[in-house]
Amino acid sequence: MVNTDLTKHVRGESIFIDDIPVPVNTVYLSILFSPLAHGKIKKIILDEAIKVPGVKKIFTAKDIPGKNQIGGIVLDELLLAEDEVTYVGQPVAVVAAETQLIARIARNKIKVEIEKLKAITDPREAFAAGELIIPPKIFSSGNIETAWKDCDVIVDGTTETGGQEHIYMETQVSLAFPIDGEGIKIFSSTQGPTVVQRIAARVLDLPMNKVEVDVPRIGGGFGGKEDQANAWAAITALAAFNLKCPAKLVLPREEDIRVTGKRHPYSSDFKIGLDKDGKILAYEFTFYQNAGAAADLSPAILDRTLFHAANSYFIPNLKATGLCCRTNLPPNTAFRGFGGPQGMFVIEAAIFKAAQTMGIEPDVIQQKNLLKEGDSFHYGQNAVNCTARLCWQSLDSKFQIKEIKDSIAKFNSSNTLLKKGMALMPICFGISFTNTFMNQASVLVHIYSDGSVGISSAAVEMGQGINAKLRQIAAKIFSVEISRIKIESSNTTRVANASPTAASSSTDLNGKALLIACNTLLERLLKSAKEDLNLKENSFLEIKNEIVYSNGNPTKSKWIDIVNSAFLKRVNLSTQAQYATPGIYFDKEISKGNAFAYHVYGTAIIETTLDCLRGIYRIDSVKVVHDFGKSFNKQIDIGQAEGGIVQGLGWITIEDIIFDHEGKLATNSFSNYKIPDIHFAPEEMLILPLENSTNPSGVFNSKAIGEPPLMYGIGVFFALANAMKAFRPNINISFSAPLTPEKVMLKLYSRSKEKSSNYLSQ
Ligand code: MTE
Ligand code: HPA
Ligand code: MOS
Repeated sequence: MVNTDLTKHVRGESIFIDDIPVPVNTVYLSILFSPLAHGKIKKIILDEAIKVPGVKKIFTAKDIPGKNQIGGIVLDELLLAEDEVTYVGQPVAVVAAETQLIARIARNKIKVEIEKLKAITDPREAFAAGELIIPPKIFSSGNIETAWKDCDVIVDGTTETGGQEHIYMETQVSLAFPIDGEGIKIFSSTQGPTVVQRIAARVLDLPMNKVEVDVPRIGGGFGGKEDQANAWAAITALAAFNLKCPAKLVLPREEDIRVTGKRHPYSSDFKIGLDKDGKILAYEFTFYQNAGAAADLSPAILDRTLFHAANSYFIPNLKATGLCCRTNLPPNTAFRGFGGPQGMFVIEAAIFKAAQTMGIEPDVIQQKNLLKEGDSFHYGQNAVNCTARLCWQSLDSKFQIKEIKDSIAKFNSSNTLLKKGMALMPICFGISFTNTFMNQASVLVHIYSDGSVGISSAAVEMGQGINAKLRQIAAKIFSVEISRIKIESSNTTRVANASPTAASSSTDLNGKALLIACNTLLERLLKSAKEDLNLKENSFLEIKNEIVYSNGNPTKSKWIDIVNSAFLKRVNLSTQAQYATPGIYFDKEISKGNAFAYHVYGTAIIETTLDCLRGIYRIDSVKVVHDFGKSFNKQIDIGQAEGGIVQGLGWITIEDIIFDHEGKLATNSFSNYKIPDIHFAPEEMLILPLENSTNPSGVFNSKAIGEPPLMYGIGVFFALANAMKAFRPNINISFSAPLTPEKVMLKLYSRSKEKSSNYLSQ
């Protein structure tokens, strides 16, 4: 079934916040951002700016009626700077004016005197300076100290992974209306309506029931609007509340890229020990997470890095240290994978290096160490319904790994300047918010007297197709036409205390809540229909394609008849239901517990061709066997997998975020920050579902899909590394992502100490 939003999108009929008509008295906002990464604010001079005709007011920190604090996990982030600025792009002052243009003109006339202080942009430097946002986090299992002496091979190294800009199509936007002189209604492009509500209430000093947040849909979030829509929503709420008129803020693309946080860059050290057969016995590593200037979601993201640091391998002795390092960059934030990809890159690099040292191929080590049923993860949970090995085997039998290797070897032996490389990339991703309490969702369902259905849920539609899936679920339970089902906007007045739409779990959480609600309503309807048909309470009545069946035989009653009759009999046709994932817990003291409802597995084989004269490359194919459980919307799920893979390989190859030493973003537009386009996408992408998989924890036995496939993209790094090795066999691969064509070029022709290479010696 197609994602029903698509038709409206291509026709331009879908309403985003910027499409909502606004009253004539609306004020437009423009923000003055800190030009420096670190400094003391001496003076903010508004005189020139306030004189610009059409300016209504300029807000600074002192105009905030409640708390000037938007931190979530740690209370360490001001909405508007007070005495100090800590990153380039930190909001300092807000102009409200009659038009967008006037607001910007006035904003440019604000002068701020700042005494410059030293800025730190590197996480290791931040660590050395004692700049940790939270104490070090340690996950461990087995006994790492004694394990080393059983190892035949021990290798160590360092890795770097870069940031990533979200490039959602719709930039950050918010529109706020004062309500009744005492409250506020905010339309926000957020993944987390309740978080926006909580933060706006805190800033305005209002109870949460006086702040209504509504999200029609968002033009992509990818994690960038899980926490980072809060500031813009709070700023518009502040202006609307103070000026008693609607206020609107849209970040222009350049500002959005420059001032919002990104995927966390990580710098990591690893040490891995194996026996002579390639069995991993010990793995010890330290992650230096570049958190930026405030905590944002960094501690939770660091948790997921630690959870996924062993990817889909069983490692009996492991010690992981995570350091959340404060730097003078915009606070980094959630990005599809939520720290998982950063952890998984390191173990893949460690395996690659170990294989190189042992003179074997990495996939020998990968395959040998894949998780099997009952193995325990380093955080204490056991692998249940573990399909890691099945996915690998299925991939091998469908695509013949050996044949692919042979054909690549053949190609490489007959080509001098073009080299092919391949890599296998297994994944394992835990499904559940790593904060246990967040694993809940609720829905509110109305059946109207004409038989149409309205559903409000905790989920936000961001292009991932949750609305289509929720419609499918309700249509299936009621057995009615899908056109009868409407998904309402996400709204805090209809659905309270919602977790953000994140962690790939919106279908699981909201879908399960919806199943409960629909079954409750169906029960009421069938009970009423039995009375109408003079049937006993225990007789078997069901609806099939809108028609009521009694003991398997069609009756004259249709959906619409039983709804209408129930309404006239004053049966309650509305219900609310909540779902909370059962059986999960995590003891943060000892870092052990059943953190996840289940895991998603899969394996990809990736082929690349490298032009060794120019350093440029092509991704020939990404072929995957992925465990979808039992997908109930293959079109959406395959789309999510394809999108995730392209986003993941973009991160690992060409998306290069560069800050200068002063903390200024050099890559602030599409002309200097390259994301994959259709030409860069793999020429062939084949995503096959693992057969006969099931998942009792998911809706109709499906599995979450939003984030896991992104991590197949990591394999592209190692496919390229293999192509580089084919050109220069003794090359010393440095594990620094993104592996841009420039980096490839420099590496291929670097004068490192290693001995001859086939090209240079020819
Ligand atoms: N797909 C689209 N089209 N747009 C998005 O913003 N976000 C991703 C993923 N897929 C995203 C997307 C992220 S980061 C997550 S966590 C999940 O969707 C969230 O939605 P889900 O819980 O419904 O999978
Ligand atoms: N994923 C996404 N968002 C989150 C998580 C997570 O695991 N934990 C807390 N917020
Ligand atoms: Mo996704 S990073 O959990 O929004």
